[in-house]
Amino acid sequence: MIQSTSEAETNNVPAHVAIIMDGNGRWARQRGLPRIAGHQQGVDAVTEVVDACARKGVDYLSLFAFSSENWGRPRQEVDALMLLLLEYLTSQRQKMLDNGIRLRVIGDLSRMTQGVQQALAEAVRVTSAGQGLTLVLALSYGGRDEILRAVRRIIIQVQAGSLDPDGLNAETFAACLDLADMPPADLMIRTSGEMRISNFLLWQAAYTELYFTDVLWPDFNLEELNKAFDDYCQRRRRFGLTDEQLQF
Ligand code: IPE
Ligand code: IPE
Ligand code: MG
Repeated sequence: MIQSTSEAETNNVPAHVAIIMDGNGRWARQRGLPRIAGHQQGVDAVTEVVDACARKGVDYLSLFAFSSENWGRPRQEVDALMLLLLEYLTSQRQKMLDNGIRLRVIGDLSRMTQGVQQALAEAVRVTSAGQGLTLVLALSYGGRDEILRAVRRIIIQVQAGSLDPDGLNAETFAACLDLADMPPADLMIRTSGEMRISNFLLWQAAYTELYFTDVLWPDFNLEELNKAFDDYCQRRRRFGLTDEQLQF
């Protein structure tokens, strides 16, 4: 086990870090390589960042790995990404177990092949006792989809008579999201210079600190993560209150 829940605060690192890992295709194009070469290199960056977050005492790391819109990419690229995912799960399995990393997956997995669904379920199962970093892979994920799924769950509860519509509030709604029982994202990093959220954690990002860097994802590493964390430490999070109120 690498850290306890309170360690993130003591180490002055965000408890929940979310990353939009963007720029693999451009990284490859700059080198005259096929896009998939960028995705392959991107996996190395994932490994480095997961290790670093676990060591630093981050509690939750949510990685946007494949969006609901990414299904529209060329078939060959989608297939290659699925293959890389399977390879990642196999190659990282022992390390996750050794380091107490607990895997979680969010998104509409029903669109994945049976093989990928099984490999994900297996990886989640074998790492479920991990007490360290919770690694959330957002796959076939869209923030709007997640909100719609929550609305459907709520309608079912109301129809069954177990939820009174008047009792619905932000807390009861959040409990129906894919990321129920996880704190909202403290810091969201997006690489590759794009300044948008692209349908990542919409509900959970209400008060998230945003950090944008021009670095392309395959070039993102420990040094770049440290820069993002240093920047985060300078932020003053007010949550709608005044500076004076926050002094108490
Ligand atoms: C991010 O890199 C990886 C995925 C979205 C799967 P991109 O593939 O979007 O790379 P660019 O944005 O085309 O450079
Ligand atoms: C966001 O990147 C999705 C992931 C990083 C998985 P995209 O490359 O799909 O986003 P857009 O199309 O530039 O907004
Ligand atoms: Mg992109």
